[in-house]
Amino acid sequence: MGRGRQILDLRVDKPHSARMYDYLLGGKTHYPADREAAVKATEGWPGLPTAARANRAFLHRAVRYLVRQAGVRQFLDIGTGIPTSPNLHEVAQAEDPSARVVYADNDPIVLAHARALLRGTGQGRTAYLDADLRQPRSLLEQPELAATLDLAEPVALTIIATVHFVPDHHDPFGAVATLMEALPSGSFLLLSHATPDFSPEEINKAVAAYHAGGIEAQVRTHRGILPFFDGLDLLDPGLVLITDWHPDTSPFGTPTDSDVSFYGGLAKKP
Ligand SMILES: C[S@@+](CC[C@H](N)C(=O)[O-])C[C@H]1O[C@@H](n2cnc3c(N)ncnc32)[C@H](O)[C@@H]1O
Repeated sequence: MGRGRQILDLRVDKPHSARMYDYLLGGKTHYPADREAAVKATEGWPGLPTAARANRAFLHRAVRYLVRQAGVRQFLDIGTGIPTSPNLHEVAQAEDPSARVVYADNDPIVLAHARALLRGTGQGRTAYLDADLRQPRSLLEQPELAATLDLAEPVALTIIATVHFVPDHHDPFGAVATLMEALPSGSFLLLSHATPDFSPEEINKAVAAYHAGGIEAQVRTHRGILPFFDGLDLLDPGLVLITDWHPDTSPFGTPTDSDVSFYGGLAKKP
């Protein structure tokens, strides 16, 4: 963990995307500024809490798929968020206790709660990196990464509900490509991303609420998200609404496309 024992400045006076998301999911790690911004975003896009839950369900299904169907045992999860049960390693290790997960996030509140992410099975392993998606090379150089994962074996890079917080001027496409280059053939990219395709006015109001709180955000169309998968083989069913990606019985009814407004996809490195 890069910041070690330094005192963390959580800036609770300002909203943070991880804490807003925790509030939307019904968690307990948020402050008035986060709640206020999340309420504003939800006033603009009433589907937002549904989308957040649909996104967690997508993450769980896709991780189970990766372990069961694709035989993946190693995960690099960037933009992890505040621990939310079940966390990625719990889903993966329930399928195979030897699964290994490296988590990474750049938000100090996630770092403050990271210990909950490090309680894996005895057989499997987890690690946490205080790292930024916008600096992929320094993320890759953190010693805990190679100490936890065997980078000669396939890894699933999971970037869930995170790249929409990285606008184009930070080159998120280059960052994801750099990370995938560092992983061997047979590795995977799993991504989910908010989109204005179904309800542009509502989504743009929600984006404005994030911007008003000082949080960078950029939603992207289907065509705008596809380049994240350049050079990879996008697997069936492609880049689709997250609720349409290998669906199972939904715990929250049948939300409209506009309520979900998140695309998700899984691709394999040839
Ligand atoms: C909406 S949460 C998603 C959490 C989790 N991946 C999920 O889908 O349930 C987005 C997370 O991305 C993190 N994040 C945003 N920008 C980031 C960056 N440049 N580098 C690393 N993490 C980032 C935030 O701190 C937050 O924890």
